[in-house]
Amino acid sequence: MKKMTYILIGAGQRGRRYSGEALRFDDMEMVAVADPSEVARNFIRERNGVPEDMCFASYKDVLSREKFADVAMICTLDRMHMEPALMAIEKGYDLILEKPVAPTAEECLALQMAAEAKGVRVTVCHVLRYTPFLKQVKALLEAGKVGKIMNLIHSEGVGNLHFSSSYVRGDFRNEAEASNMLLAKSCHDLDLIQWLMGSRCVKVQSFGHLSHFTPENAPEGATDRCADGCPHLKTCPYNAYEVYRDRQGLPQTWRRKATGQVNPTYEDLTWAVENTAYGRCVYKCDNDVMDHQTVNLEYENGETAVFTVSAFNKGGRRLHIMGTKGELISTDFKTISLFIYSDEDENSETYGKPITITIDTSPEGMDQTIAGGHGGGDKGLVVDVHDLYVNGVESNSLSSIRTSVENHLTVFAAEESRKNGGILVNVDDFIARYK
Ligand SMILES: NC(=O)c1ccc[n+]([C@@H]2O[C@H](COP(=O)([O-])OP(=O)(O)OC[C@H]3O[C@@H](n4cnc5c(N)ncnc54)[C@H](O)[C@@H]3O)[C@@H](O)[C@H]2O)c1
Repeated sequence: MKKMTYILIGAGQRGRRYSGEALRFDDMEMVAVADPSEVARNFIRERNGVPEDMCFASYKDVLSREKFADVAMICTLDRMHMEPALMAIEKGYDLILEKPVAPTAEECLALQMAAEAKGVRVTVCHVLRYTPFLKQVKALLEAGKVGKIMNLIHSEGVGNLHFSSSYVRGDFRNEAEASNMLLAKSCHDLDLIQWLMGSRCVKVQSFGHLSHFTPENAPEGATDRCADGCPHLKTCPYNAYEVYRDRQGLPQTWRRKATGQVNPTYEDLTWAVENTAYGRCVYKCDNDVMDHQTVNLEYENGETAVFTVSAFNKGGRRLHIMGTKGELISTDFKTISLFIYSDEDENSETYGKPITITIDTSPEGMDQTIAGGHGGGDKGLVVDVHDLYVNGVESNSLSSIRTSVENHLTVFAAEESRKNGGILVNVDDFIARYK
């Protein structure tokens, strides 16, 4: 029986997530893990059954050895993708690489060139591609249900609390330490827009601002930290005691991030609010990434798309695709509403008439096994990667490093536009500067 072996580099939130999904397969085996955190390493060692002598404190230790697995799965933070990725490529590993590929256009292209020169495969974790919802949307588009796509409108509601946790208080708040918000949060969205459009983006323009999470918007008398006796705790939606400790139903990942613990206790959470960056007033952090941004895109045959990302909502993505034969709408990334201008099925009662079809892609609606993180995308990615390495089956969702980097470059081009007052950027000219 063919087996897929992998090493995990970075056993934090994402590394734990994929390697947890991998446990469903007997023939997908983690043979080594690297992470400086003993807590993170021990959790993986016990759960995934990695031998003690195959647990390393850094990617440097594990990647200085000769290649001993099929794949290196790289789940370190944004600014620590390049070095382990290049070391792993050099040793001949295929990669499963967390997004973003790298925080700059130069680094993305360098990584692509290194991978192509060595002939290794790099799968970037654009997990949305692997959701049952987007697999179904892509299948409908390929079946010609909406005809030729003319425009697409897509929005990403990050959610005000998610935004405050990751992009105001947390790891992705500051461009110099992580990356710009469009890259960190929305490289997924620009990747999926390109995938659905099935066409190359040629022009881009973007506007965006950090408007709300700034000191000017702090309510009068707000203290620097929630624990300093802030008079607004009762009504502030960002009260850190509520967000990280007291309110039920919020993501456990935020609590893990705030405490550095896999299973944080009430005391750990109180400590995190009172001592870590996650207890700061959201109006008094060192954040500089945009809290809302819009991107206009033009494709090679004149198709157009608009993308908006914003902190100011409960959270969730919406999609509207308009084509020559019909339109496709989803307001929850689960249910698809397809309106067809004229039914072309001669055997149907509605032949020649307009019809509306509703498709529920949620697990209940489709009796499918893919569910869980990122609308089933985390699991979907692991399932497709397993299928590739063990069964030699290549799913439609998988993409090459060339495609991933091209889509990242659209993000960098959009940022160039935003930083220059919304100028129009020709994508090919932009890319040519780096070649
Ligand atoms: N695909 C997605 O949808 C998605 C979602 C969230 C985050 N991400 C990306 O995933 C990546 C990881 O994010 P996260 O939230 O899991 O971060 P994390 O901080 O939880 O995990 C990173 C881990 O890397 C470890 N690390 C640090 N130095 C190391 C070294 N020298 N060798 C090995 N490991 C080392 C840290 O100890 C930590 O455990 C980021 O690039 C982030 O942008 C992707």
